[in-house]
Amino acid sequence: MKKKKIGVLTGGGDAPGLNAVIYALTKTCVTEFGYELIGYRFGYRGLYENKFTPLNMSAVSGILHKGGTILHSSNKDNLFEFFVSAAGQKVKKDVSSVAIENMANEGVDALCVLGGDGTLTSARDFARKGINVVGVPKTIDNDLLSTETTFGFDTAVSIVTENLGRLHTTAESHHRVMIAEVMGRSAGWIALHAGIAGSADVILIPEIPFSLENIVAKIKERDALGKYFSVIVVCEGAIEKGGEAVVGKIVEDSPDPIRFGGVGAYLAHRLEPLVEHEVRSCAFGHIQRGGETSAQDRVLSCRYGVAAAHLIHEEKYGNMVCLRRGVMEYESLEKVIGQNKLVNPNGELVRVARSLGVSFGG
Ligand code: F6P
Repeated sequence: MKKKKIGVLTGGGDAPGLNAVIYALTKTCVTEFGYELIGYRFGYRGLYENKFTPLNMSAVSGILHKGGTILHSSNKDNLFEFFVSAAGQKVKKDVSSVAIENMANEGVDALCVLGGDGTLTSARDFARKGINVVGVPKTIDNDLLSTETTFGFDTAVSIVTENLGRLHTTAESHHRVMIAEVMGRSAGWIALHAGIAGSADVILIPEIPFSLENIVAKIKERDALGKYFSVIVVCEGAIEKGGEAVVGKIVEDSPDPIRFGGVGAYLAHRLEPLVEHEVRSCAFGHIQRGGETSAQDRVLSCRYGVAAAHLIHEEKYGNMVCLRRGVMEYESLEKVIGQNKLVNPNGELVRVARSLGVSFGG
């Protein structure tokens, strides 16, 4: 009897824990179920170009702790709207049938897709075309409604928290206001968690539009207490009241073309004339996604990987594994797409921060 053959790919921005998912998925599929696995390189592009690598025990040896993805990734390459050149122009074309043919020729029985909302939208679309797909949710932003916690989030929060400590020492030495710009897109989870853990004085999140007046009031309140420095954490998607998010870059051929970036520098520029301190900003950027995966994310990722392997084994296709009330479950890809989880401005965590004296600027 032919061994079941599983294709695996990682799409979207990398997140710490992707390798741990690949590790757990591969080990379970190979040792428990006797399957053969191949990993498509650079996300859906690998599926289109038929570029893959064997995923076996030796391929995943020693990768559990490593950040990034051994399969490489891309946050472009939506095969249902793929950019191709025609008559000297770039036009969108549905090339998904090429990928489906490639999988059929390779004898791939099922596809396991690790990715965020954009990547999983394509996974759903492949499922609609009859491909046996299982999804694994990924994002450091932790903004997927269907799952309690995504892997990569804990690592990002730990990195931001540690680096807020570094900003504190220089802020205090120079009597400065230091601004840390962190990732999260339109969800303030990283800023909120790391801001609390790293004792920020001001936390600015997209869910609570801020005013300069309120931020200045907090800095002056601290000055009056003899605390001549302040640390501000701002989520990249944070918005000034009546304003708009600061966009750093547009990536035309990406399913979600907006890349946030620059709100920290913008804020520093606006704030400095209003306070008696030098105001400096520092964008933590991709450092938040880099390096080794935290212990908590390694464990969580292994749980996702094993759960995905079992879903494939049980042939429960068209689903995504998710964590609910601390238990690994699954949900239809049809239901999970486009469902964002945002910070509740009146929720417990915001109230906790306010009780600690944190200003949200709004
Ligand atoms: O969604 C994860 C994320 O890291 C966001 O927090 C951030 O805005 C975005 O990806 C950055 O993407 P890129 O790697 O394309 O700059």
